[in-house]
Amino acid sequence: MHTPDAISVIRAKRDGAALTPEQIDWVVDAYVRGEVADEQMSALAMAILLNGMDRAEIARWTAAMIASGDRMDFSSLPLPTADKHSTGGIGDKITLPLAPLVAACGAAVPQLSGRGLGHTGGTLDKLEAIPGWRARLSGEEMLRVLRETGAVICAAGEGLAPADRKLYALRDVTGTVESIPLIASSIMSKKIAEGTGALVLDVKTGSGAFMKTEADARELASTMVEIGTDNGVRTVALLTDMSTPLGLTAGNGLEVRESVEVLAGGGPADVVELTLALAREMLDAAGLPDADPARALADGSAMDRWRRMIAAQGGDPDAPLPVARETHTVPAPATGVLSVLDAYAVGIAAWRLGAGRARKEDPVQAAAGVEMHAKPGDRVVAGEPLLTLHTDTPERFPGALAALEGDAVVVDTSGAEPAARRGVIIDRVA
Ligand code: URA
Repeated sequence: MHTPDAISVIRAKRDGAALTPEQIDWVVDAYVRGEVADEQMSALAMAILLNGMDRAEIARWTAAMIASGDRMDFSSLPLPTADKHSTGGIGDKITLPLAPLVAACGAAVPQLSGRGLGHTGGTLDKLEAIPGWRARLSGEEMLRVLRETGAVICAAGEGLAPADRKLYALRDVTGTVESIPLIASSIMSKKIAEGTGALVLDVKTGSGAFMKTEADARELASTMVEIGTDNGVRTVALLTDMSTPLGLTAGNGLEVRESVEVLAGGGPADVVELTLALAREMLDAAGLPDADPARALADGSAMDRWRRMIAAQGGDPDAPLPVARETHTVPAPATGVLSVLDAYAVGIAAWRLGAGRARKEDPVQAAAGVEMHAKPGDRVVAGEPLLTLHTDTPERFPGALAALEGDAVVVDTSGAEPAARRGVIIDRVA
C-alpha cells in the first residue's frame, strides 16, 4: 500500500468519496507535523463541509485527532467520572452550579472549559470574575482538586487534541466551522481525550446558538452521541432552547452571582430546571441513578462543594463580586406580554458592553453585561425597567442599545393571555 498524499485525499473528498482509514490517519497526523500545508487542509475542510462524512469516517477522524495528543486518565480516582459539554449560548452559566452539584451527589467532575470568543461567554471568563480564582492548573493540581472537592473546572492543557486546536483555528478563518462532522469530531475528540467515563451534551438551538434550526441541532446531537458511544463513553444529549437567554443575566460576574443564587436554593426557574436535568443525566450515566440533586441544592451540600472548589483554585468564595462603574436602564416599550427577548441580540449587547472579546487575546470586563427583569411570557408595564446594562466604559452603551433595537424586544399588546411558557428542554437524544 502506498502512502496517501494530500492532493489525492482532497480530490477523493471533492469528488464525494468516503475517505479510507489510512487516508484519515495520514492526513490528520501529517497536518500536525506540518507536512500537509494550511491551504491543503483548508481545501479538505471545505470539501468535507460540502460533501460530509459518514459515521465510519467521523469515528476515524475523531480517533486520529485524539491520537494527536495526550489522553488523561482518572482511573485512580475512587469515584465514577461524569462531564457535561454545552454547544454554547447566552447566559449559559450552567457549568458553575452543575459541577459542584454533581460532585455533592457522588460523581467526580473533571471539567475542561474554554474562554468566550464572539457573543457567547466562556466558563473560565465567568469564574475569573471571582477574586483570586485560577484557571490554569497542572495535571497534578487538577487531580488534587478533583480528589479533594470532587469537581474541577480549568483550562485544557496544550497537549489535549493538538490536531483539533490547529484545525479549529484554520476553520475559523476559512468559513469551514459550520460542518456537523467537523464540529462533532472537534468537540468529542477533546471530551474523549479528557478521559471522562460519562458525558452529557447540552445541544442548543435558536438565535443565540451555533445551530439555528432544531433539525441541525438534532443531527449534531445524534452524531456526537454516536461518537461517544463508539468510543466507550456513556453519552446522552439534551436538545435545549436558546431563542432567549438562560436565566436573567448575561455577563461574567453577573452570571456568577446568579449561579450562587441557584446553589443557595433560589435562582431563575429555567436555570434550575436545566441544572437539575443535566445533573440527573450525568448521575445516571455515571451509574448513580438514585442520587437526588434537588436535595443537594436544598440542603446546602452543593453550595459547600462550590465553596471548596473555588477555594482549592485560589478563589475567595466570600469576596464581593466586581460591580460595574456605570449602569443604564432600558424600559419596557409598551404594556402587555413580553413575547420576544432575543438571545442573539442580548448576547451582542453584553459583548459590546465588554463582557466578551473580539480577538482571543483581548481582556474582558468582569462586571459588564445585561441583567433582565422579565422573560418571554411575563407581563411588562410601559416605562418600567426591562433590562439593566452594566459596564465600566459608558461609551459602550450606544452600541449595546443598537443591538437591542428592531425585533429584539417585542411586547404583545393585544390583551391576549400569555401562552404557557415553553420549557427549556426540547428533547433527549440517546
Ligand atoms: N466548539 C468546538 O470545540 N469545536 C467546533 O468545531 C465548534 C465548537
